[in-house]
Amino acid sequence: MKHLLKLGDLSPEEILHVLDTADQLKRLHQAGQDPKVLTGKSVALIFNKNSTRTRTSFEVGIYQMGGQGTFLNAATELQIARGEPIQDTARVLGRYYDALVYRTYRQSEVEALAQYSGVPVISGMTDYAHPLQVLTDLMTVREKLGRLEGVRAAFIGDGYNMANSLIVGCLKMGMSLTVACPKGYRPAADVLMFARSCGAPFCLTDNPDEAARGAQVLFTDVWTSMGMEREAERRRRDFAGYTLDAARMALTAPGCLVQHPLPAHRGEEITEEVLEAHAAEIFDEAENRLHVEKAVLAILLAGY
Ligand code: CP
Repeated sequence: MKHLLKLGDLSPEEILHVLDTADQLKRLHQAGQDPKVLTGKSVALIFNKNSTRTRTSFEVGIYQMGGQGTFLNAATELQIARGEPIQDTARVLGRYYDALVYRTYRQSEVEALAQYSGVPVISGMTDYAHPLQVLTDLMTVREKLGRLEGVRAAFIGDGYNMANSLIVGCLKMGMSLTVACPKGYRPAADVLMFARSCGAPFCLTDNPDEAARGAQVLFTDVWTSMGMEREAERRRRDFAGYTLDAARMALTAPGCLVQHPLPAHRGEEITEEVLEAHAAEIFDEAENRLHVEKAVLAILLAGY
């Protein structure tokens, strides 16, 4: 693994290696034994969108491993905001930093950063993919259920970056997945092509109850992602009936997990009642972002 740009680039073995490394680093952290494998290394955290979890967990994780992270606001402070090309930014930052984390809109921007910087690049989320979050979700599901192979999962919501990455990640790891989204909000065409050709059990529906029925883990995400705020009213209408509520949870398998990348919009994609009933696993999921990011850095920069 040279970069982490999207899960489609990783083999099942590489995904498993990230998950095993994250488990190992979590155990070491809990024992107060964080390996200082980033000593002397600097990581740029370039954000063109808001973040709570991704930014802070990277800052803390890099510190725990002995390195230093620099937060760079690409929306208002870097010269990117004034039109400096990504190729030039990449060639400059690649000469200072050992790795670059980039959260932005277009997938092509993180791909360009990787092409021109000469150092490992990690996607902090784009409109197309959220690989760190889905690696974290896989880690959390395996932690809770003891396996991934054969687990029956469902995603209910927008066929956007989380859905795209869940389809690739879950199917590569031998899970079955049903995605329920309204017509007009379907996952990316290349991702659906992968899902239909990879041989793993996959179903796309516009019926959220069909997705929930018998699920052992239910994923959801916000209906209005960053940059879509002007569509919020229309999206609330289009996604009516897709809320994860108690009636829908009653259709799932006993002990069904709920996973939400956060921030949550209570009363839209999930009710307060369901979120609070599943808060333990949702906030364990949030914690696991830290361990997964440390694992990715350890693999990319320290030869794990
Ligand atoms: N889940 C996630 O990526 O959270 P942030 O947007 O807060 O980083």
